[in-house]
Amino acid sequence: MRRAAIVMVALLAACSGGAKSGDEARPTPATPNDLGLGRAATDSEVALLDIDVNAAGAGLPSGSGTHAQGALVFAAKCASCHGPKGEGMTSGAIAYPKLIGREPRDGFPFGKDLKYVKTVGNYWPYSTTIFDYVRRAMPLDRPGSLTNDEVYAVTAFLLAENEIVPREFVVDAKSLPGVRMPARDRFVKDDRAGGAKFR
Ligand code: HEC
Repeated sequence: MRRAAIVMVALLAACSGGAKSGDEARPTPATPNDLGLGRAATDSEVALLDIDVNAAGAGLPSGSGTHAQGALVFAAKCASCHGPKGEGMTSGAIAYPKLIGREPRDGFPFGKDLKYVKTVGNYWPYSTTIFDYVRRAMPLDRPGSLTNDEVYAVTAFLLAENEIVPREFVVDAKSLPGVRMPARDRFVKDDRAGGAKFR
């Protein structure tokens, strides 16, 4: 095992174009250019992957959607796993989370009372996360397949079904960051400094 590790290190050093010996020396990592591999990604290739939306909504794209449009998207592309009413289901070892449900409306007993299920409606602190998460990760079997309008629509559907916005509410880059989630104040900034005190 140790011998294999030494051979690996020697190989890495050789690839990096010659490192100095000694504990301080760090091999310079080989770049794709040194190895004659690959090419720089184009702006449009980077744009396809650069899809993060932060809590304040920075990064939200153009497009929009409503509850009525989202109901169609949900029925066609989400209900098979999350249930027609977003009630969630379990199939074999996989749990498909409940997405619709605000109970309990008072208090925040999740740490103490396991009978309450955490959902987008009663637990998520930011509405913008629904857009970000669904766009990057859902549907589970075809992530990235939804248009931005479909993601906005299904976000409007989930917000309205959870009684956080009215059904006529149009979700877009401007309106979504203004939607305050019921659990928003239940989360506090972790301002602990860390370090020796916590070891
Ligand atoms: C093939 C099954 C499948 C489909 C289809 C699917 N999902 Fe999911 N979804 C899952 C699973 C499984 C998870 C849990 C993933 C995890 O915990 O890592 C999940 C998680 C989620 C969550 C996070 C829930 C939470 O509280 O953590 C949201 C929101 C969500 N899905 C929305 C959608 C929407 C909207 C669609 C339709 C566009 C969709 N999903 C389609 C299987 C699916």
